[in-house]
Amino acid sequence: MSGPHTSTGHRGVLYVIACGSPLARHVGRLVDLAQSDGWAVCVVTTPDGAKFVDRAALARQTGHPVRTHYKNPGDPDVLPAADAMLVCPATVNTVNKWAVGITDTLALGLLVEAQGLGVPIAAVPYTNVAMAGHPAFRSSLARLAEWGVRVVFGDHVVRLHAPGTGERHLDAFPWDAGLAALRGAARPVVPVARAV
Ligand SMILES: Cc1cc2nc3c(=O)[nH]c(=O)nc-3n(C[C@H](O)[C@H](O)[C@H](O)COP(=O)(O)O)c2cc1C
Repeated sequence: MSGPHTSTGHRGVLYVIACGSPLARHVGRLVDLAQSDGWAVCVVTTPDGAKFVDRAALARQTGHPVRTHYKNPGDPDVLPAADAMLVCPATVNTVNKWAVGITDTLALGLLVEAQGLGVPIAAVPYTNVAMAGHPAFRSSLARLAEWGVRVVFGDHVVRLHAPGTGERHLDAFPWDAGLAALRGAARPVVPVARAV
C-alpha cells in the first residue's frame, strides 16, 4: 500500500464501498489501482466493514476520511460528490438489503441514492459457496444487474470458497475486475447528493 496519492482524478471521484469481509483488510490495493486508473478515491465502509480496515492508512492514502456512519443533522459534508461507486467486497447482507432498497447503513443510503441519480455503480461480491447458494442472494444480484448495476460475479471472476476458508484466498482476488467494469462509465448528469 502506498502513501499519499498523486492521482489527478481526471476520471472523477470514486467511492469505494467496503463491506464486512476479511477481503476489506486489503482494500488499499483497490485504492492504489483506482488512483492509477485516474480516480480520486474516497473509502466508505459498512459498520462491519469498518472492523477490517485501517482507517488511518486509508485516510492518508486517499486524502479523505473514511466514512462509516450517517452524519448528524447539521454536520458538514466531508467528502466530494461521487461520480461512480464500486462496492468491493460486497457482502451477501449488503447485496440483499440493497436490492430491496433498505438504507440502514451509510453505505446503503449512498448506493440507493446514487442508483436513483444514475451514478454508475459496480459491485464485486466476495463470499463463500454456502452463503452464495442462498436463492435470495442470486435474485438480488439479478435484480441489481437488471437495474444497471455492473455486477461482477462468477467463477470467471473469483471461485467460490468453502465456508471458513475465505482468509486463504485473499491474495488471489482480482482487484481490477470492478474497476474494469467501470471503465467507460459516463459521469452522471447530476452529482450524487450528500444528504447522507
Ligand atoms: C470473520 C468474518 C468473515 C466474514 N466474511 C464474509 C464474506 O467474505 N462475505 C460475506 O458476504 N459475509 C461475510 N461475513 C458475514 C458478514 O460480515 C455479515 O453478514 C455482516 O452482517 C455484513 O454486514 P455488511 O453487509 O453491513 O458489511 C463474515 C463475517 C465474519 C465475522
